[in-house]
Amino acid sequence: MNAEELLRERRSVRKFKDEKVDKAIMTEIVELSRWAPSWANTQVARYTITDNEQIIESIANEAVKGFSYNMKTLKNAKGVAILSYVKGLSGMIQQYNIDSGEDNTWDVFDAGIACQTFCLAAHSKGVGTCIFGVIDQEKIAELVNLPSDQSVAALIVYGYEEGEHAQAAQRKDVDQILRFV
Ligand SMILES: Cc1cc2nc3c(=O)[nH]c(=O)nc-3n(C[C@H](O)[C@H](O)[C@H](O)COP(=O)(O)O)c2cc1C
Repeated sequence: MNAEELLRERRSVRKFKDEKVDKAIMTEIVELSRWAPSWANTQVARYTITDNEQIIESIANEAVKGFSYNMKTLKNAKGVAILSYVKGLSGMIQQYNIDSGEDNTWDVFDAGIACQTFCLAAHSKGVGTCIFGVIDQEKIAELVNLPSDQSVAALIVYGYEEGEHAQAAQRKDVDQILRFV
């Protein structure tokens, strides 16, 4: 798979085989994710990964705001990765007196880059992923005992895809999203 295929063919996967992904493979995926860029190379992204059925069930029942679509996906997921970030580092460069101020969202931005890097790395290893934004961040933090210096950015459900590869959702044409000035 070349880079263009990787970018075009990654899909959100919501149907998984009844087979866990080995911890060694998840470690390789995080090893690749480390190469994501970040604000001043602060590397604030953190990954909490579990294939524990009880934790996954608790997340489904208590931490997706009762959104049945996500609950259904979680019921057949073989693992989840909680993408979090260390607070208070991105958006600042002390030695240059740079501070992005109250509107600073660079930590979430960094987490987003890390999230997609993780999903692409997983796809390159044959592991399907789906990012969840409909989540209760605080409840998830509580369920996985997240260190208090971190916040949850997203949940990534993962596993080996069951059946045909998920169909691509329609994309806007390039001329709708690009302008040169
Ligand atoms: C920030 C973000 C939040 C998302 N939240 C959910 C979610 O809660 N549940 C879900 O099933 N998919 C979720 N998705 C997946 C999108 O629906 C999906 O990426 C989009 O439809 C494009 O499809 P594709 O990923 O297969 O290309 C989310 C994606 C992103 C980037």
